[in-house]
Amino acid sequence: MEDSHEKSFAKLYGTQPAILASAPGRINLIGEHTDYNNGYVLPAAIQLRNYFLAAPRNDRRVRIRAENFDESESFDLDSLKPSETKRWTEYVKGIFWALEQDGHRLGGVDAVIWGEVPLESGLSSSAALEVSIIKGLTGLFGIDLPPEKLAKLAQKAENDFVGMKCGLMDQFIAVFGRKDSALFLDCETLAYQHFPLNLEKNNLAILIYDTKVRRQLAGSEYNKRREEASRALEILKAHGAAAYKQATLVLLEETKPAMSDVLYRRAKHVISENARVQLSVKALKADNFFRLGSLLFQSHESLRDDYEVSCPELDVLYETGRGFLGCLGARLVGAGFGGSGIAIVEKSRLAAFEDKLKAAAKDRGFPAPECREISVGEGAQAVGLPDRRVL
Ligand code: GLA
Repeated sequence: MEDSHEKSFAKLYGTQPAILASAPGRINLIGEHTDYNNGYVLPAAIQLRNYFLAAPRNDRRVRIRAENFDESESFDLDSLKPSETKRWTEYVKGIFWALEQDGHRLGGVDAVIWGEVPLESGLSSSAALEVSIIKGLTGLFGIDLPPEKLAKLAQKAENDFVGMKCGLMDQFIAVFGRKDSALFLDCETLAYQHFPLNLEKNNLAILIYDTKVRRQLAGSEYNKRREEASRALEILKAHGAAAYKQATLVLLEETKPAMSDVLYRRAKHVISENARVQLSVKALKADNFFRLGSLLFQSHESLRDDYEVSCPELDVLYETGRGFLGCLGARLVGAGFGGSGIAIVEKSRLAAFEDKLKAAAKDRGFPAPECREISVGEGAQAVGLPDRRVL
């Protein structure tokens, strides 16, 4: 498949590409809206990836073609300015900008990008795009950066250039993903550990349920949740908790009179979700997928009731999952307000569960969802061309 992109690159620019980089989308087993609260997350990279094919130029001009949109754009590296437009081009420019802000002088490039991660589906297509480009550019210009730094600069591009105040989870897993493993990350210290996700051995599958609901409001509501959570933390701090990770539900109850109901519920989600991530790691270590599944259900309830980021289309997954023998757990994934959810399902019951979900969505008059089984893939990779040596 990459060959055909290399051919279209050569046709478009009249040169051969020098590097092919790619990065995966992700699911998150559990730990939602905890990353920007310096808490715990447990994501895994998926098999769907975004790609960046490029060759260096002798000037500071960037010409880039996005195959999925059938669109091309060119810009000059000396006139990069942050904008709050969410077009694909802003994510691309943001990466060049973030690298230059960090002190790396880049040259121009000719590039082609394409992707398999569905857009605005809660599977983090933007981090896959950002990380594939940063991986490609650092390879192309011989910039040696520790992997944590790649993830942080990709996040900076999204935070400060595109204007989406995301946490670090998506970029981190896009860099650090490992086949058949979930990654436990402490978003404060960036200490992390991979844990095997023994689905096959346990005759289980992870299903992605894409509601096909795309809500523009996700960005503004996301930033609002972030701000509410940080206001709640200020109050918790005044009552003795240094951070969400140290706060307990007991302390939260003591603090309740000093908080509005909304802030109380936001904090309750973050504190309880951090605890669920830690319990999930224990469950994963013991291959106890029933326990893990029940924590997924609880996470959805908390996201729906306390953090208020679910929507009726996502609740269909949860409700159907709760009532289906063979579904161990289900929850919304990513920012919420639409996009996707995941479910852990007995492999032999997967087709029946999909039928049930589709019928449930139809009954409610919702758009036809897309269901697909995921496999857990690798993090970002780059190869030099044409010999395909790994960089
Ligand atoms: C989006 C953000 C992440 C994270 C999740 C919610 O995917 O990009 O940083 O905050 O939402 O857990």
